[in-house]
Amino acid sequence: MMASLHETAVYQAAGARIDALFADEGGRDLGALYDGACRVLNESVPNYNWVGIYLVEGDDLVLVAWRGPAPTEHVRIPLGQGICGAAASSGETIIVDDVNADPRYLACFLNTRAEIVVPIQDERMVYGEIDIDGDRVAAFGPVDRAFLEGVAARLAERVGARPPR
Ligand code: SME
Repeated sequence: MMASLHETAVYQAAGARIDALFADEGGRDLGALYDGACRVLNESVPNYNWVGIYLVEGDDLVLVAWRGPAPTEHVRIPLGQGICGAAASSGETIIVDDVNADPRYLACFLNTRAEIVVPIQDERMVYGEIDIDGDRVAAFGPVDRAFLEGVAARLAERVGARPPR
């Protein structure tokens, strides 16, 4: 699917803001980076209605940053549950066009219709994921996948370089 010129401009602007975030000195602090990435994505792309970053902690995914109209009750998700768990366990991006038709879906917000979950990973491991909810059916497509996998790869570079705890 080709992106329209308007769409292309939206992703270019979002990408420029992501570049600025990573270039910024504040971006060296991982907490600020997670927070900034959620903010930039939520503000820059109209369909990204709720944006969260989860990190793998033992057998769970733990929410470390989010932006959107309301908090989620799903602040800790077992790796075996939800679309979030499926994406982290498989290391594959998952796009769900209609969340109401997906039995894995863990409901958060009444107005969510579509979801994209993109693992934050490198060749060694899955560190976490970007989870985005959209208010339109089929809100996400190949352009979102490519764009967000790029953002996730940059996050993975930073997370992978963090000192061992
Ligand atoms: N819907 C997700 C849970 C997280 S919320 O969308 C914030 C899932 O099915 O895993």
